Amino acid sequence: MKKNIVALILSPRESGNCEVLTKEICRHIPEEHELTLVRLTSKDIKPCKGCYACLVSGSCPLDDDFLEVAEAMAKSDALIIASPTYFIGANGVLKVFLDRCLQLFSAKFSVRGKPVINLVTAGIKGEAGYSEMMLNSFSLILGLKLRASEIFYGALPGEIFYENDEQLQRAENLGSKLFSTEKRSFAEWACPLCGSDVIQLLGENKIQCVVCRNYGEVVNDGKNLKLKVTLNPDNIFFTEEQAGRHGLWLQEMKSRFMQLRRKLAEITGPYADEGKWL
Ligand SMILES: Cc1cc2nc3c(=O)[nH]c(=O)nc-3n(C[C@H](O)[C@H](O)[C@H](O)COP(=O)(O)O)c2cc1C
Repeated sequence: MKKNIVALILSPRESGNCEVLTKEICRHIPEEHELTLVRLTSKDIKPCKGCYACLVSGSCPLDDDFLEVAEAMAKSDALIIASPTYFIGANGVLKVFLDRCLQLFSAKFSVRGKPVINLVTAGIKGEAGYSEMMLNSFSLILGLKLRASEIFYGALPGEIFYENDEQLQRAENLGSKLFSTEKRSFAEWACPLCGSDVIQLLGENKIQCVVCRNYGEVVNDGKNLKLKVTLNPDNIFFTEEQAGRHGLWLQEMKSRFMQLRRKLAEITGPYADEGKWL
């Protein structure tokens, strides 16, 4: 049966690098498939209001294109997420979309377990900043199975493949990774649990992985510095079980709020009329 691939394109540029890269990778996917592209920046995705209504009633009061996109993701066999770097991060629409995914804790469908390839494009080598980390934490929070994550450089639309056989070859290689069952291998210096190379130093040799937020330490194996990271049982998203527990905790918020609301109003009330709003 034909596989159904949904690609979230975070670039507003038609025939830009994200779009061309995604299509090039799909040319090399050995499995028979159909590609559906979603230009997320052209969809109406409103920012989360933080009202938690979705967790109580099961539906979000905002009326826009969020559900159309989330349902397409849930029906897919695999995802590709491609974002340009904008000021050292991914396009902000990705984060706006992720915040709305709070409602997936109580939705009747899920995107968990879908394989995903994350792609970042950037105009200047070394200037992609935290873009890749944004895409990878998006995938981790939603429980997607990250098959690969790569950065491609090129400023003008199409430039990633202009006289650049190395990037064309890398795109070709990614094609075989989306549905591969091979265990993903991580860089030696990366977090051994999630593969992220963004690590926070906590002092006294202690570290925390910024993407999966598990704790560990730096160890010297005689040749190189490596990370030893242990699964934190209190982590809220890393495993399906942890995400499930967090979902229950969120759903208990309504009764917590009802219990505390008078006391909380005593705190917030005195601030209410201060300052003027633009
Ligand atoms: C608002 C804006 C900010 C950008 N910031 C960065 C940046 O911080 N680092 C970088 O390497 N490229 C930056 N770029 C360049 C794009 O990442 C690059 O052109 C990329 O290939 C665009 O992909 P696209 O063709 O799919 O839109 C920026 C582009 C724009 C429009």
